[in-house]
Amino acid sequence: MRILVMNGVNLNLTGKREKSVYGAATLEEINANIQAFCEKNGDSVEFFQSNVEGELVNKLHEAFLQKTCDGIVFNAGAFTHYSYALRDAIAAIDIPVVETHISNVHAREFFRHTSVLAEVCKGVVCGFGAASYLAAIVGLKNS
Ligand code: DQA
Repeated sequence: MRILVMNGVNLNLTGKREKSVYGAATLEEINANIQAFCEKNGDSVEFFQSNVEGELVNKLHEAFLQKTCDGIVFNAGAFTHYSYALRDAIAAIDIPVVETHISNVHAREFFRHTSVLAEVCKGVVCGFGAASYLAAIVGLKNS
């Protein structure tokens, strides 16, 4: 399976910001672990991170139009809670997307309890730290 792992706004600072919430592993370290996990399972993986909403929309369009992957693991960061543009982009494409979060957003501030993306996603994983990404991949592979 060809998997695209996308990270949105502020996720480039993972391992450097709010370590008590997001852990000490950097995004590069998390991605290296995902890469090893995918290789072991015979899957290929591509990584993309941007702090720019439109660039994330463009990446979703590219995946759809150029058929570059079979499933998407997407941690949109704070965009999750209010980006109708990302929601529409996910709804527009025929590739399953798993909304993914490092932290348990439901155990945090009230505004994080809302996701405008979840309704158009295949599934949602949150709260397992960096292992949330691996759980999302397992979900994609087995559904
Ligand atoms: C996050 C949760 C979001 O609420 C937050 O804005 C983030 C990270 C997570 O991975 O836990 O930036 O998506």
